[in-house]
Amino acid sequence: MSLRTIHTFPDPVLRQKARKITEFDETLQPLISDMVETMYDAPGIGLAAPQIGESVQLIVLDVSKEKEDQKFMVMINPEITEHEGNQIDEEGCLSVLDLTASVKRSRKITVTYLDISGKEQKLTTEERFAVVLQHEIDHLNGILFIDHLSSLKRALYKKKMKKMLASKKR
Ligand code: NI
Repeated sequence: MSLRTIHTFPDPVLRQKARKITEFDETLQPLISDMVETMYDAPGIGLAAPQIGESVQLIVLDVSKEKEDQKFMVMINPEITEHEGNQIDEEGCLSVLDLTASVKRSRKITVTYLDISGKEQKLTTEERFAVVLQHEIDHLNGILFIDHLSSLKRALYKKKMKKMLASKKR
């Protein structure tokens, strides 16, 4: 296992649509281990593969608060198949530095995905865990939580990051 670098906005890898995983070979497990290690080290409650520069549809989630017998969960090629209601909650992202903001999401979602062995699974969840899942699945489609904010808020953030990057280069 090794700790990986988390790519941050405006890195273009975060804007790519990640490709589906079709082969469940020996390269998958080390990637998952790296992601889990990187997530806990950050620390974060979820991490998507594009955040460590791997443009594939893979997310890991910390479920130690949701489930008693499990520490983390792996979802491959996850897709939201049903959603219902709305909720607004505070979000941040390991790839979006120095910002948290309120984001509107579905309250309850159903996700279909493949587990580590390539078996199809289905999960229905709500409230905070549904938020985390929607946030991580967005990453696989090149979407960041700032894309859900008003254009004014987003523009302010981009300006701030530009300034920060410019001052680093000096
Ligand atoms: Ni994120």
